[in-house]
Amino acid sequence: MTTLRVHLPGETGPAADRSYEIQCGRGLIDALGRVLHDAGVRRSVIIADGGVASTHAARAQASIVAAGIDAPMLEVPAGEASKSLASAGRLWDEFARMAVDRSTHVVAVGGGVVGDLAGFVAATFARGIPVWQVPTTLVAQVDSAIGGKTGINLAGGKNLVGAFWQPAGVIADIDTLASLPDREFTSGLAEVVKYGVIFDPEFFGWLETNALALLAREPAALAHAVHRSAAMKADVVERDERERSGLRAALNYGHTFAHAYETAAGYGVLLHGEAVAIGMAMAARLACRLGRIPASLVARHDALLTSLNLPVNPPASLREPGPLVTIMARDKKAVAGTLRFVLPDRLGHVELVDGVPPQLVGDVLRG
Ligand SMILES: NC(=O)c1ccc[n+]([C@@H]2O[C@H](COP(=O)([O-])OP(=O)(O)OC[C@H]3O[C@@H](n4cnc5c(N)ncnc54)[C@H](O)[C@@H]3O)[C@@H](O)[C@H]2O)c1
Ligand SMILES: [Zn+2]
Repeated sequence: MTTLRVHLPGETGPAADRSYEIQCGRGLIDALGRVLHDAGVRRSVIIADGGVASTHAARAQASIVAAGIDAPMLEVPAGEASKSLASAGRLWDEFARMAVDRSTHVVAVGGGVVGDLAGFVAATFARGIPVWQVPTTLVAQVDSAIGGKTGINLAGGKNLVGAFWQPAGVIADIDTLASLPDREFTSGLAEVVKYGVIFDPEFFGWLETNALALLAREPAALAHAVHRSAAMKADVVERDERERSGLRAALNYGHTFAHAYETAAGYGVLLHGEAVAIGMAMAARLACRLGRIPASLVARHDALLTSLNLPVNPPASLREPGPLVTIMARDKKAVAGTLRFVLPDRLGHVELVDGVPPQLVGDVLRG
């Protein structure tokens, strides 16, 4: 087991210090009760989705109850549709009915949907109660459970309503990844590759060497990949918690393209990580066209994604640049008439590049 500490100062002085630990390793769900007990938790409520309620969340519940802590479970349907005002409202009402108060800790067991929803409900109920993130998808372990971004979707867009609400702790049990469907697991690997490209050439090399072990979900490989990714995410969050300095923007590598593909395809056709893999491949090609990186790095980037069973080209129906460029121009990262991208200038380093001509982007999208 490894422990990372996310250092975050209190907003109203040292007494309100918001630092927390990320524990990563095997069998941690069964030790959850002890962790909560040692943290002084006396009462909790678990939020889980239908995909994990009877498995990982039930084990979490058994562990917490065995530690003498109350742990009723509230379930939401699996899937992005649960990140809704209706789900939040139902959970708020349940909390009120159960007389949840500020001494009650929320425990979110599941993927990014559950983490974002439960985090948002915890951030807002009684003006904020503690939440523990217990991520069970690769995306959640390396990304969404860390950093305090919580929220729900509106008809008008994803994540439009939310709050920054840092967890009291993050417990990433890599054994839970064994039951993830292949496509969900592989999709999560795209965000892992992202950390290598944007921050860490050595980690990128490690991924190249260990691609097969990762695909086979060998615990030692998983533990290293999750730990290193979580450490990089935690580091960004410490230095740019609210996305003000631009550092946290590096995490959007590949994402301007990805959002355009997701939107054009219709949500749910491409998994987010699949869109990110294609988006990163496009970003690398664009960086090459702009003379920022050599073609050999584009080839290495493509080869790693391919060896992890991730796509590097969009489906045939998404090769027409017009609609994609229109969507990207609406993206909040665009500035009047030109486009803005996070692009590498070498392995392990990216910059925010403004003023990219839409024509050039179109050429890259066409392939
Ligand atoms: N807050 C952030 O910083 C942040 C960052 C990235 C993504 N997100 C959000 O995360 C969400 C996506 O999260 P996700 O990819 O984890 O998807 P998800 O939460 O929808 O989980 C995917 C599916 O896997 C199932 N599942 C979860 N764990 C399982 C396990 N161990 N075994 C078997 N099945 C399991 C779930 O029931 C669900 O059906 C999106 O809403 C996205 O906006 C948030
Ligand atoms: Zn992402």
